[in-house]
Amino acid sequence: MTFTLPDHLSVRGGQLYIGQHDCVNLAEEYGTPLFVTDEERLRSNFTRYDEALKKHYSDVQMLYAAKANGNLTIMKIFAQLGAGADVFSSGELHMALLAGMLPEKLLFNGSSKTKDDLKLAVEKDVKVSLDSFDELRQLNEIAGEAGKIAEVSFRINPAIDVPTHPKIATGLATSKFGIKADQIVDAYRAAMECENILPVGMHCHIGSQILAVEPFAKAAEIMVKVAGEITDLGVRLTFIDIGGGLGIPYNHTTETAPTPEEYADAVMPVFLNGIRKLGIKPQLWVEPGRNLVGDTTVILTKVNSVKTAHKKFVNVDAGFNLLLRPAMYDAYHEVIVANKADHDYETEYTVTGPICETGDIIANDRMLPHVEDGDIIAILDAGAYGYSMASQYNCRPRCPEVMVFGDRSGIMRRGESVIDILNTMKKLPWHEK
Ligand code: LLP
Repeated sequence: MTFTLPDHLSVRGGQLYIGQHDCVNLAEEYGTPLFVTDEERLRSNFTRYDEALKKHYSDVQMLYAAKANGNLTIMKIFAQLGAGADVFSSGELHMALLAGMLPEKLLFNGSSKTKDDLKLAVEKDVKVSLDSFDELRQLNEIAGEAGKIAEVSFRINPAIDVPTHPKIATGLATSKFGIKADQIVDAYRAAMECENILPVGMHCHIGSQILAVEPFAKAAEIMVKVAGEITDLGVRLTFIDIGGGLGIPYNHTTETAPTPEEYADAVMPVFLNGIRKLGIKPQLWVEPGRNLVGDTTVILTKVNSVKTAHKKFVNVDAGFNLLLRPAMYDAYHEVIVANKADHDYETEYTVTGPICETGDIIANDRMLPHVEDGDIIAILDAGAYGYSMASQYNCRPRCPEVMVFGDRSGIMRRGESVIDILNTMKKLPWHEK
């Protein structure tokens, strides 16, 4: 191994372990490909983030970003720990409620909600983060029809550049998300004039996989400045939501990520000074996703074959159908040969998936021990935007997800079968005999 493993991963007797479990045994027992998540790591990631913020201010509410990993078991664990959720669809809203999260701890986000989405939010008394004037008008009508007052925030576009992949920077002036600076006050004024709307919050999210704290501090500064303008209008803010976005180190040799404590130390003084000056005491809402789940999970994938062409390819059974991040964002994920974890790294390989696309590369030009068919490769840090972005491309059923906790392990989502895929397809009436 050329890098230090995080606490929940270890090498024992030459094999890679997650928690107390030998990855090779897990692969044998449950088959490959396989997602394996460590429940203790999940819990400690959550508690650490929560405590780091609450050390500065007790009135913090964690809203887990459900899109990062929407497994119901994971959502339930976070619900038990006191979390609400940032939900981005009616589906995620249903999942959050089913997991036991309280409606008052949810925020329905999204730049393109349907009227049915808005109706559901109203019906379930879930606050809505509005992303346009048009949506404000629609929600006012829908709340009126339901005889309710809808509590809302607007998503603020803070127009700041962040050091991350352009596809996941969400608070740029040119981004599709949020209300522009020069329209924010008008938006809140319009909301106050709506009969069935009560503006109570502010929301922003500047992007994802951000490995510096300064952009978050900058966003917090903008948020409290806008909070002042809105408070002057007469809005009584009960929450300010500064989103998620704190990254994790994917390249364990070259990358370091700010800790939740460093994040809190940078952001909280700005937030606290701001609200103190305004004389308001809103709850602070945060929406971490990746930071809570990213490093908790490995994908175990089996080597089908090894081929020497212009370079050496290792063909495994997990591709961008299960982990889209390398193909979509050129993302880096560490790979470890789980059954040879203490062998010398002597050969350069490119690890490729089984999908019929040239871009289906999991790891490019990596030094690994000598690899043979049947070896088990662990892809690290696959807990965020792994399964949640998985597809059935090439008619490949999605694989199971397993949780480990102490000496126990169990399936938290079964694998799909080709029958599952076929079951959604219908014969057209004019093709019936
Ligand atoms: N809140 C909102 C409104 C968001 O849009 C997101 C992520 C989050 C919170 C959580 O961000 P996090 O703490 O996880 O960075 N698929 C990409 C990431 C897309 C993020 C989308 N929004 C990836 O694999 O890197």
